[in-house]
Amino acid sequence: MSSSRFEPAGPLRGGLRPPSDKSISHRAALIAAMGEGETRIEGYLDAADTRSTLAAVAALGVGVEAGPELGRALTVAGVGLRGPRPAAIDVGNAGTLLRLLPGWLAGQEAGEWTLDGDDSIRRRPVDRVALPLREMGADVEAREGMPPLTVRGAALRGIDYEMPIASAQVKSCLLFAGLLAAGSTRIAEGHPSRDHTERMLAAAGAPIERAGGAVVVRPAERLEPRRIDVPADISSAAFFVVAAALVPGSEVVLEGVGVNPTRTGILAILERMGASIEVEPEGEHGGEPVARLRVRPSPLRATDVGGAEVPLAIDELPLVALAACFAEGTTTIRDAAELRRKESDRVETVAAALRALGGAVEPTADGLVITGTGGLRGGIVRSHGDHRIAMLGAVAGLAAADGVEVEGMDAAAVSYPRFEADLRSLLGGG
Ligand code: S3P
Repeated sequence: MSSSRFEPAGPLRGGLRPPSDKSISHRAALIAAMGEGETRIEGYLDAADTRSTLAAVAALGVGVEAGPELGRALTVAGVGLRGPRPAAIDVGNAGTLLRLLPGWLAGQEAGEWTLDGDDSIRRRPVDRVALPLREMGADVEAREGMPPLTVRGAALRGIDYEMPIASAQVKSCLLFAGLLAAGSTRIAEGHPSRDHTERMLAAAGAPIERAGGAVVVRPAERLEPRRIDVPADISSAAFFVVAAALVPGSEVVLEGVGVNPTRTGILAILERMGASIEVEPEGEHGGEPVARLRVRPSPLRATDVGGAEVPLAIDELPLVALAACFAEGTTTIRDAAELRRKESDRVETVAAALRALGGAVEPTADGLVITGTGGLRGGIVRSHGDHRIAMLGAVAGLAAADGVEVEGMDAAAVSYPRFEADLRSLLGGG
């Protein structure tokens, strides 16, 4: 476990392209694996989580050919929708891989697969996919709703499913299963969640359509993705957005950032708090809207976050809590009990991290209440092996009076191996 110190070091200035989108990269590898023939993926994320997905599809018999730089040239030779061979899969720390892959495997004619991962993965619920998959006729077993998960191929039938939680992972899993089920599968979501799977499947020729608050998929013979382009990850960009919003004198430009409306909740929330964020559209990149973000600091005020906004900003809520420590008034985050089921219990780990730095933060059953105190003192943040908590601590360090020591900074490699170097490259540049 490595520690790093982050201290106030003046404004952040300059520009960079944040790493490629983690959600889209996982889907690109899986959908290319299901495809016929070769798919070229441009800009695949080179990070621990997405390496787990490449190793997983390779174990299923998929050909993966990467150059020295994964993000530059990746060619995936798919086994086809009905071609994965039996395997034991190590998902590492990747919850998205854990939830999405069973949908594809459950619909195979025969075969057995197990999915397991690190200590954090063994605390991530899988009943959210196991229960609806069983309704479709799947043979899925988990110990008390947690990994390891065993999937045996079975004949599936389409279902009409109302998701009890807004989860893009559950939706995506059932969409994959629906491609192999008899009849149509309809998945209704109370609040929209990220729709990268729908966009990518449609581009690969799958019979999928949105109907009101639901997605309907019908069985497919074949998928032909051919080429998938991955934009930069707004969830990674968000760390620089908040850093530039908090540190006086900053001006940061982030290029090529995916601004799919199902992911931009963080921008809407920060703008409501008074942040200065210019979004300059840069067109479409592989079926996803992309933009340049320009961020400068400004005084922030408290806000309330809940309801439909939560799934649109789920991974960025820790950053909202950090910004709220610097804002005027009391910010409430509610309807976010899902935060407790992420790489760590983020209600508790965010509250503990910010309190350790002098923040006035109260955890609640489904969120956080944060009272702005004009700033943070500083101290020690423990990442608890959670990449987003490690990066949160680093950003806090640039804005807290006495700086922050992050214990377990290496966790950032799950989604952003070069985070610390990129962050430091923006310091002292102006
Ligand atoms: C993800 C969806 C979200 C998010 C996770 C990635 C995805 O999880 O928190 O980091 O790629 O589909 P849920 O859909 O379970 O909320």
